[in-house]
Amino acid sequence: MQERSGEALRICVIGAGYVGLTTGTVLASFGHTVTIVEKDQAKLELLTAGRVPIFEPGLEELMGEDLESKRLSFSSDLASALEEAEVVFVAVGTPSSTDGSADLGAVENVSDEIARALRRPIVLVIKSTVPIGTSDAVSRRVHAGLRRRSDELAALGAVPDSGRVEELCDVVFCPEFLREGRALLDLVHPHRIVIGTRSVRALGLLKTLFASIDAPILVTDRRSAEAIKYASNGFLATKISFINEIANLCEATGADILDVAKGMGLDDRIGDRFLQAGVGYGGSCFPKDTKALLHIAETAGYEFEILRAVIDVNERQKRRVIELLDEHLDDLARRKIALLGLAFKPETDDIREAPSIVVAAELLARGAEVVGYDPQAAGNFANEVPGVRIAESAEEAIQGADAVVLLTEWREFLGLEPSAIKLGMRGDILIDGRNVLDPERVSQAGLRYRGIGRRAVDLGEAQELREGRERC
Ligand code: UGA
Repeated sequence: MQERSGEALRICVIGAGYVGLTTGTVLASFGHTVTIVEKDQAKLELLTAGRVPIFEPGLEELMGEDLESKRLSFSSDLASALEEAEVVFVAVGTPSSTDGSADLGAVENVSDEIARALRRPIVLVIKSTVPIGTSDAVSRRVHAGLRRRSDELAALGAVPDSGRVEELCDVVFCPEFLREGRALLDLVHPHRIVIGTRSVRALGLLKTLFASIDAPILVTDRRSAEAIKYASNGFLATKISFINEIANLCEATGADILDVAKGMGLDDRIGDRFLQAGVGYGGSCFPKDTKALLHIAETAGYEFEILRAVIDVNERQKRRVIELLDEHLDDLARRKIALLGLAFKPETDDIREAPSIVVAAELLARGAEVVGYDPQAAGNFANEVPGVRIAESAEEAIQGADAVVLLTEWREFLGLEPSAIKLGMRGDILIDGRNVLDPERVSQAGLRYRGIGRRAVDLGEAQELREGRERC
């Protein structure tokens, strides 16, 4: 099929979660006509009123423009949306089951609904992260459903000239690589677009769809595309666990992780991204996808040793700040600990698998008084960990604290004045779980600074080093 560059397509996106909502909104802003189908009535009402249920910079504004131009609409009626659509995205959740495998219930339900309702040709694009082989299974499932409806489709005049009802639905796997907090930027400027299909018709339509995006396109088979998604998240998680282990080693040997990571990153075979040591990775993707990948390997009879270690190291790393607190405070009971940052990373209100949850739960279990502050995620956190008192500001959280623990590198925390922190506190321990504060300034304010893999601050030595650098 000829590539239809610049042409507006009619799109249906199933699922108004993170991926569906941002993808649909961005595609509408490219000029395509998009209907996002969402079953949850309360969410649907909110979205139809132009309000976004998640915190994602720029999303509400862009969605407002799309709604105004009528390129974007919301609906709960999949069958009607399918009557118009040329391309249908599946962006439903694939949460972890208890054994770590991805729960495919929502993907299967959507496949069945499509098989029951389809009357015209579509390209079905799976965006949900699914185990290798799932898109093939979805394709078989939808095609079997369409074959069962052959007579009905013939009566409707919907059977393609070839006589093959299967041609009504080409299934493609197209992984999503967006990051929360910068989803719109990632969608408009992705590192790459991966299209898992062997269908020329589907490829033509998708190239038209993504015509406004300037990024390399890799076309491969569906299974390889599915593997690329898991392998990418697994590798990034590996980088994080690796640098966290190096950080712990730095601390044990007197090296400094920031210089080590910088020195490593200058080698472009290694690269300087994702080498920020800290309290471990969280969020809705890395924890879920690493576990699912491990399960995929187990099912295939393969022992994926590195990945198992990556997951274990991350679990241990979340508790690193507790170890640091234990080094400075003989007993955590009745100590007041302030947690700055509760979201799994900045620019989001998402607390799924956030290290803050593990840290707070452990502190509460040890009898500490825990007060937390986050610019966006406090509400979500309060529902998840009820025993934590929520403060309205960082300053309020710090008041009377024995120790302050920074868990999320929100920009507003970088501007905190160490002397003001010291003044508000009862104690003098500051744990920088993201290595974003200046140890020297913090120490000069009379606080005991601990980072993750940072060398202990010697103010005299630091002064000498500074003078030496100035002389050079
Ligand atoms: C991640 C991937 O980066 C995206 O490419 C992918 O599309 C997405 O998962 C997904 O599968 O949907 P996200 O979870 O939004 O995106 O956030 P990241 O920015 O990747 O951060 C994940 C976690 O790693 C955070 O807790 C962050 O604090 C931590 N991290 C990241 C580190 O501890 N150190 C680093 O150097 C980088």
